[in-house]
Amino acid sequence: MKTARHTLKARRVQFDLASTPAYWIPDDPFSSHLINGIHLILPAGELWFCRVYNKALPYVTDPQLRADVEGFIRQEAIHSRTHSHAEHYLHRHHFDTEAFRSKIEWLFERFLGEAPFTLNVLKRKRLEKHWLVLRVGIIAAIEHFTGALGQWTLDSKSWDKADPVMADLFRWHLAEEVEHRTVAFDLFEHLCKTQLGFYISRQALMAIVFPLMIYVLAEGGMSLARQGKDEYSMWMARKSLLRLIIEMERIGRKTDNVPTFTFLLQASARWVLPNFHPITEGDTQQALDYLARSPAARAAAGLPPV
Ligand SMILES: [Fe+2]
Ligand SMILES: [Fe+2]
Repeated sequence: MKTARHTLKARRVQFDLASTPAYWIPDDPFSSHLINGIHLILPAGELWFCRVYNKALPYVTDPQLRADVEGFIRQEAIHSRTHSHAEHYLHRHHFDTEAFRSKIEWLFERFLGEAPFTLNVLKRKRLEKHWLVLRVGIIAAIEHFTGALGQWTLDSKSWDKADPVMADLFRWHLAEEVEHRTVAFDLFEHLCKTQLGFYISRQALMAIVFPLMIYVLAEGGMSLARQGKDEYSMWMARKSLLRLIIEMERIGRKTDNVPTFTFLLQASARWVLPNFHPITEGDTQQALDYLARSPAARAAAGLPPV
């Protein structure tokens, strides 16, 4: 475990999105749709993280790791709730979110829940533990990207021109992802019996998580683009997944409003290294510096804006 010693605390932030436009990144419907789709994925997704981690807690024998896992749960619970509130913002802009959100809820609550499909056999104790560790591994793979994307957000200046409230919402969230980027990896390692098993299973899980994550992100953005009345949204809604990936690469390179697909590929390539650890994927101090000036985080701490 290479975690920098740091106590994870939840910040009870609130965001008033009443004046935030649908295209909160100016002149960029692609990035706005793609990122807005995340509001529909994370409420169920991050609540699922919390449920899995609460089940994993009794197996954690290291007191420091236990404290990290508890801090992680507290932060992810607020992330989930915050994105859930942001769904009202999408409704205010006349987006119907029901169909896509229902699919995501099925994915996390049923498919990745306690008894996927009708496999009640998983209720048997030993298999139940394997299923739990597997899901902890899936979370570790997802958290590799939230940490890398968090550092990208801290480094990028492109959202300075975006709607300040929505930009702060994503920056606050992603700064906390950088802050807790080592927890999921350390927990998965802690629950794997051998280093070889840990290495092989984290590669196997990444091979599933990476394409699935790209697909789900693209579907989220597409579910909103299909409802857009402007020419670009209608163009976007007709495109294949491959064409969207090419568009993400183009827009990422041109504007830096979204990371490029190459950035995500490079992040997954680093994961393959046997000595990989997410401690090297981000800068905790840079995340804390942002959280010290984030308007929402300051308000949550009872501090005036800087
Ligand atoms: Fe989160
Ligand atoms: Fe996270």
